[in-house]
Amino acid sequence: MHLFLVGAGPVGLVTAVGFARLGHHVTVSDIDTARVATLAGGRSPIFEPGLEEALRAQTAAGRMDFTVEPTPPAGAAFSIVCVGTPTDASGPLSTAQVESVVASLLASAPPEHVVAVRSTLPVEGPDRLARLVADRRAAGPCPTVVTNPEFMREGAGLRDFDVPSRVVTGWLFPEDREAAKAVADLYEPLNAPTLVADARSVALIKLASNVFLATKIAFANELALICDAAGADVDLVTAGVGMDDRIGKAFLSAGPGIGGSCLPEQTVALPLLSSRLGVPTPLIDAVSRSNVSHQQAVVGRLGALLGEPLGGARIALLGLAFKAGTDDVRESPALAIARELRVAGATIAGFDPQAAVTARRADPSLDVARDALEAARGAAAVVIATEWPEFRSLDWTAMRAAMRGDLVYDTRNVVDRAAVLRAGLRLEILGRRV
Ligand SMILES: NC(=O)c1ccc[n+]([C@@H]2O[C@H](COP(=O)([O-])OP(=O)(O)OC[C@H]3O[C@@H](n4cnc5c(N)ncnc54)[C@H](O)[C@@H]3O)[C@@H](O)[C@H]2O)c1
Repeated sequence: MHLFLVGAGPVGLVTAVGFARLGHHVTVSDIDTARVATLAGGRSPIFEPGLEEALRAQTAAGRMDFTVEPTPPAGAAFSIVCVGTPTDASGPLSTAQVESVVASLLASAPPEHVVAVRSTLPVEGPDRLARLVADRRAAGPCPTVVTNPEFMREGAGLRDFDVPSRVVTGWLFPEDREAAKAVADLYEPLNAPTLVADARSVALIKLASNVFLATKIAFANELALICDAAGADVDLVTAGVGMDDRIGKAFLSAGPGIGGSCLPEQTVALPLLSSRLGVPTPLIDAVSRSNVSHQQAVVGRLGALLGEPLGGARIALLGLAFKAGTDDVRESPALAIARELRVAGATIAGFDPQAAVTARRADPSLDVARDALEAARGAAAVVIATEWPEFRSLDWTAMRAAMRGDLVYDTRNVVDRAAVLRAGLRLEILGRRV
């Protein structure tokens, strides 16, 4: 089948490759001409493990092509909309990009065409799309629009497409239930549990899933602070807690905070929705505040460990991506920590194996070194902020020689403890005993 996919970000590219690997032909469209040229030249504009190779393989097999054309090619039965829903002046989860693309598809695609919106929608998003469809239908037959949220994790996107936890699709009008079912059927070879429902409930499934995951992380982060103060080990605590099937281990892991384009935004979006609806949700409201407070606590702890004022101290910040396996720095806790440290008067030298370019773009005042050793030069402390596996094998003897101070503060529990200690460094690990 020929699919038209709009929006070549992490979600769009992973979805496009996933469908191409299922044997479909996918035409990928993006408004960003440079991005389309990069893709047409056989390169991926984002770092996602295995993505570039998979894009090349599917393009060489004739199953993918790239365009800036906003109109679906003749014969494409479905359009899949994967454009962004960033926070803008209207608040979190802006539907401006989605509405513009859906309006254009409603005007250009034939009536039998089905448009599946994969972008994350706010709960009122389906109503906005329904209005666009109703206006268009008043003028004559037009394509059907359904929703189909994505649940992938950056860094494991291709695997998450191939082995989805579930496939969820939503209809805007009850009479469009069959179209929502047809979109769910596209994923049938993946054998995932499937749910077809009204698009409002579907939007809430997506938001609630992410806020619940954020709550688990925030809970583990607060436990880490308790462990630091009480002399316990948060990994043992969360392992023991997670052994209960009703709780589960996944996402019960402490670190420097919640990041990425989804979780932080949605921990703001859901409380805004409940406040608009006049519904008291003190638990949901607290998650975002917990995250901000946690990042401040991490900086506070670093200051206490340092034994000298943060003002004037040089700090090496290893890891800038919001997590390992991606070059995405959107809402990265590392960048939030860098900002907090700068407010306290520290100078930051950052390093990331994949995210140097995106980090510089996001924070032009951030000094980004070529490697960990360069970042460590003259540093009073090294802070590990992303769990990149390469940080396990750093040469701590060389790092020690380059540093001015002797503190390593690992917020991800990733370093080789013995190697750090052997180099004569002082090691502190967030929430864990060394
Ligand atoms: N990133 C994730 O891990 C993730 C996971 C699940 C869901 N989501 C949701 O999926 C959606 C996409 O996320 P993303 O991170 O891939 O977004 P992104 O913002 O990184 O990429 C969106 C792409 O759409 C393109 N675009 C914007 N307007 C366009 C238009 N009018 N025509 C064609 N292309 C256009 C942009 O140029 C960009 O390449 C968002 O709603 C996000 O919340 C993201």
